[in-house]
Amino acid sequence: MKKPYLRTLLLMGAITAMFASCEYDFIVYPEPYVPPVGTEDTISFSQDIIPIFTAQCVKCHKAGAFAPDLTAANAYSAITTGNFVVATKPEESIIYTCLKAGGSMNQYITVKEAALIYRWVYAGAKNN
Ligand code: HEC
Repeated sequence: MKKPYLRTLLLMGAITAMFASCEYDFIVYPEPYVPPVGTEDTISFSQDIIPIFTAQCVKCHKAGAFAPDLTAANAYSAITTGNFVVATKPEESIIYTCLKAGGSMNQYITVKEAALIYRWVYAGAKNN
């Protein structure tokens, strides 16, 4: 192969790589707010989390449909006995990992709501 061809090939490769790497660059997902260690975070399961489940999740997640059952009466026991939650460790909790960017349930929730769930798990996943 002659040199000019090689140069064209390299240039084309570089341009392709540039476009490929730019694909998702303009969608910026902020990291969830994490309260400083030692401060009490006040996320309430019944006041803050249940309304999100009710509005966006229970149409699919209820008894007789998909697990976990996220209806107000059953959500807490469904996600704590079903191992969807690891208290204080949102990064290991399916209830959060399925909601964050790239998660299978991400399309049903906003970044802000997912951050609330992150904070609720981080604060100990209390039934408050
Ligand atoms: C349109 C229906 C639908 C909606 C709305 C929906 N889900 Fe799901 N969800 C599913 C299906 C189907 C599955 C099982 C297949 C899968 O994991 O993708 C599932 C699985 C899950 C799982 C288990 C994932 C795992 O890896 O075991 C969790 C947790 C979950 N959803 C939470 C939620 C939450 C929280 C919401 C609301 C923000 C929500 N889902 C909204 C249909 C839905």
